[in-house]
Amino acid sequence: MRKKIVAGNWKMHKNAEQTEDLLNELIAKMPTETDAQVIVAPTFVNLASAVDHLEFTNIDVAAQNVHQAEAGAFTGEISADMLKSVGVNTVILGHSERRAIFHETDALIANKVDTALEHDMTVIFCFGEELKDRQSKSHFNIVENQLKDGLFHIQANQWENVVLAYEPVWAIGTGETASPEQAQEMHEFIRQTVRTAFGIEIADNVSILYGGSVKPDNAKEIFSKPDVDGGLIGGAALKAEDFVAIVKAI
Ligand code: 13P
Repeated sequence: MRKKIVAGNWKMHKNAEQTEDLLNELIAKMPTETDAQVIVAPTFVNLASAVDHLEFTNIDVAAQNVHQAEAGAFTGEISADMLKSVGVNTVILGHSERRAIFHETDALIANKVDTALEHDMTVIFCFGEELKDRQSKSHFNIVENQLKDGLFHIQANQWENVVLAYEPVWAIGTGETASPEQAQEMHEFIRQTVRTAFGIEIADNVSILYGGSVKPDNAKEIFSKPDVDGGLIGGAALKAEDFVAIVKAI
């Protein structure tokens, strides 16, 4: 069954002490009865302590990236086995910042997807068009290609470990969110694209999150759309009050 999910991508924010403080606040404020799966993605160095901290809570922990290789001479990188060994079973891949700033291509992301899935991790697969793509009306094409080139090589049975996160680049960190109608239109298109390639059951069951300037005051309206199954939250995930309000909005 399709899950509701609210995930916080902390990006490169919060040192060890700040991570602990934010987690404590989240634990104190998070509703224990919620239909949504709640996930936080702190930085690599704070993952192990976050897993320990959240052990008896309903909050899960994700990594923000993983290297595609099993191990080797890759200075500065982190493997799927390392993440699993500290209790991290979910990873965000294909984020637009990884694509734009760190030059991750669809082919590389596809490799990372394979590695993560082979390690029985859940992949939060991010994709979304830039402003120029929307202005030139090629946003549907771009989104379809990102899906096909980065993800659609997987097997049908692997979809149960995949969550989609549509994040229009022009809405990330800009305060300019997609309208609920724009989000719904694209999410419907994404589900239809999955359906055409993999069938109705997989398309109906996959959760599609929206990301890009989701805040407490716009979350409810966005989440009310039938093909929006939750959110991937950046800035507002760094304040416990805001993140909890967004979880409550679902
Ligand atoms: P903002 O919520 O800060 O726009 O970031 C969204 C995002 O990039 C989540 O991955």
